[in-house]
Amino acid sequence: MSDKPVQTSPLQLRDRGDIVLRIEHLSVNFRAGKQTVQAVSDLSLDVARGETLGLVGESGCGKSTVGRAIMQLPPPTAGKVLFQGQDLGLLSGEALRQTRTALQMIFQDPISSLNPRRKVRDIVAEGLQIWGRPSQQARVREVMEAVGLDPDAVADRRPHQFSGGQCQRICIARSLALDPDVLICDEPVSALDVSVQAQILNLLEDMKQRYQLTMVFVAHNLAVVRNVSDRVAVMYLGKLCEIGDTGSVYARPAHPYTRALLASIPDMNPLSRHQQDGLPLLHGDLPSPANPPSGCRFRTRCPNAQSLCAEKEPLMQAVRQTVQNDPQSKATVEVSDHFVACHFPL
Ligand SMILES: Nc1ncnc2c1ncn2[C@@H]1O[C@H](COP(=O)(O)OP(=O)(O)OP(=O)(O)O)[C@@H](O)[C@H]1O
Ligand code: SF4
Ligand SMILES: [Mg+2]
Repeated sequence: MSDKPVQTSPLQLRDRGDIVLRIEHLSVNFRAGKQTVQAVSDLSLDVARGETLGLVGESGCGKSTVGRAIMQLPPPTAGKVLFQGQDLGLLSGEALRQTRTALQMIFQDPISSLNPRRKVRDIVAEGLQIWGRPSQQARVREVMEAVGLDPDAVADRRPHQFSGGQCQRICIARSLALDPDVLICDEPVSALDVSVQAQILNLLEDMKQRYQLTMVFVAHNLAVVRNVSDRVAVMYLGKLCEIGDTGSVYARPAHPYTRALLASIPDMNPLSRHQQDGLPLLHGDLPSPANPPSGCRFRTRCPNAQSLCAEKEPLMQAVRQTVQNDPQSKATVEVSDHFVACHFPL
């Protein structure tokens, strides 16, 4: 028997004035024949201005669906996406399209996300043309130069004349042309040669500083997001299982799934320590999101599962709280930026 979570204001959402993106109780279902695929279930998180949130989990756990639901492509089945406090689900038509220009997305396969018949200058200018923004040419030059493309040399060429890494630069330039606030990067380097992955990661980091971006960075591997993320969110089968400050999550994973993901990265400390402890790596297949396990969705693969895990869905709880002095009130307050959904956290 699984109890439906009843939290109205999820614990892991932060009460502060600089939250740019806030997702509350997001669920996305798809129809697949007679079945309903629960791609994302009751997921809540937020991203503060200038932060990068790494969103991690195995293939099929719902990461891209979260990215697309933020853009309302398609709108979620349930729950809210608030951008700068504005509920995007309440917008439609022109108002939604206009607001959405502040949210841009880049994808895993840069070559297929570029129109092969268009010249690079037109691809980069696409959004500017749609919205009739002035100084188009100057802006196109600026963002092309920013991503390391020489406008005079490449503007009249077409995508097939470029490598995957160069195509990703074109995609990044296109996404920056409209001066977005939020960039959602959906596995932006996983289709690229290892030799160019670091260049594109560095470029994204530079663009974040230069254009004061807030980023959501999707990856299936915790190693990729470690260096780029301020916070990390770990998903399993459509659910959020752990979220917190990157240093804390990597040093002291509290969810058995996070620990297993970390342990699967060969030379990452403190993982080798876990491996020496004889803790098992992740085994078994991801259950179907059309028929997820009762209680905790990870229970069928969890080495620590007990009967409670099948009966009751674990709610988010703070991993540990640190006591700090509030400079204004002088009072001591307990704060935590690390939360886990597990009955028996590590
Ligand atoms: N349009 C759709 N129709 C039906 N099912 C879908 C659709 N899009 C996604 N799904 C299903 O929803 C689940 C989550 O998919 P999603 O693409 O979000 O996962 P992901 O974590 O991004 O995976 P990957 O790492 O492979 O990109 C999967 O089971 C997928 O098959
Ligand atoms: S709730 Fe139970 S099954 Fe789920 S991760 Fe925690 S210990 Fe494992
Ligand atoms: Mg995906």
